Amino acid sequence: MVSTPVTGAVNSGRQYLPGSITEAASPNQYLLPLTARLNPQDHLEIGGCDVPALVHRFGSPLYILDEVTLRTACRHYRQAFQCYYPGDALVIYASKAWNCLAVCAIVAAEGLGIDVVSGGELYTALQAGVAPDTIYFHGNNKSVEELQLAIDAGCSIVVDNWLELKTLTQLCSGGQEQPTKIPILLRLTPGIECHTHEYIRTGHLDSKFGFDPDQLDAVFAFVRQQPSLECIGLHAHIGSQIFELQPHHDLAGVMVQWMSKAAQYGLPVRELDIGGGLGIRYTESDDPPSIDEWVRVVCQGIVQACERQNLPLPRLIAEPGRSLIGSACVTAYTIGSQKVIPGVRTYVTVDGGMSDNPRPITYQSVYRAVVANRMSAEATETVAIAGKHCESGDIVIKQTTLPPTQPGDTLVVLATGAYNYSMASNYNRLARPAAVLVNAGEANIILQRETYQDLIQHDRLPQRLHPTL
Ligand code: LLP
Repeated sequence: MVSTPVTGAVNSGRQYLPGSITEAASPNQYLLPLTARLNPQDHLEIGGCDVPALVHRFGSPLYILDEVTLRTACRHYRQAFQCYYPGDALVIYASKAWNCLAVCAIVAAEGLGIDVVSGGELYTALQAGVAPDTIYFHGNNKSVEELQLAIDAGCSIVVDNWLELKTLTQLCSGGQEQPTKIPILLRLTPGIECHTHEYIRTGHLDSKFGFDPDQLDAVFAFVRQQPSLECIGLHAHIGSQIFELQPHHDLAGVMVQWMSKAAQYGLPVRELDIGGGLGIRYTESDDPPSIDEWVRVVCQGIVQACERQNLPLPRLIAEPGRSLIGSACVTAYTIGSQKVIPGVRTYVTVDGGMSDNPRPITYQSVYRAVVANRMSAEATETVAIAGKHCESGDIVIKQTTLPPTQPGDTLVVLATGAYNYSMASNYNRLARPAAVLVNAGEANIILQRETYQDLIQHDRLPQRLHPTL
């Protein structure tokens, strides 16, 4: 089910409104959060909150996260696994998409575990109250300190390479008492190609992540001999923003073969973690499968492969990031200067850019935007939305149609929940925006806007550089 234009909508911001939403609506197929509405002032409303009023109250730029959309996506994943998988399943949120206390707390309350990739993400998840035994620690170069933190916390570690395996065995052999075994999963490179940006493809053989499948025997043989490690599972991830279903079906088959090999080595492998990767809609032409379809294909792939090989069903783990949170958030900016180059282009500039959304400049990602304080105004002008950074490439949207705009208008860029805040920077010493969580007319700050004071809090001025009085 996809976003349908509101009846009678002209080419305006209204065309992106989600129409009538049913329980079956898969959030990753919508350009705006599920609660997006038009209010009598012709303003965009999300989570029952008037968007221009939010900007007035909390400042600009502003990330606006819709709790209903995020929770709905969590439920879709959980319900689909209940429906299609006869064994035990766990969905873990790939928190690299957006890691902060409130987001971790929401997904954990929805019964999801959490995937973390650094000590910082792990610390945040623990501080948010996430149960350690639902946390999976990834990463291709975890430090000794990070590994120790994960061991002490009691989470599962997804081991990426030989150095990490050996470091873990050393960390466990130091103490007097035999520690309880550390639960590990082994990350393997499946050699599966998929169509997505080369920077976010990870399953092909020439990838920095995971053990090469040629090493399977050697790794299994080594792990079998380690009394301190318990190899409970295998992991693979083939990439991100993927619309095809076949690669995930194929991956399921490959992983079950690995599981069968692990059984030959006597390893207690009982979990298969199939990674994440389901794409979302950023523009009208994007047509991602629903969460339900993706889960069905993954489950069928595992069930069929296990039947073929006469193996018991593993505990199935999936770790989506973007498809859980991407469509739940928008970024509101305030429009400032404009530059009209006759016959060439008109630049409409906003008060943020590559520091709050580095995806366009990094991956040439395409976004859509609406003018939130004049949603029904006809989009008659073709413009570029420029950021305010000192960099020509800092263009939020290269080409889009908007109604005529003026300084002070609220421009809302859609589907910015994934890999925006989490990849934000202070380039040009811009303070990072605030984020508000909206639900049923209430708006709560979940990330405080940074201040100039915050920007210099870790700067140190050696005494000899102090200006002499
Ligand atoms: N699991 C692993 C091991 C991953 O590396 C990733 C994403 C995921 C799960 C979640 O994938 P998702 O469901 O979100 O597609 N910064 C890029 C995306 C990088 C993805 C990195 N890994 C972007 O903005 O498009």
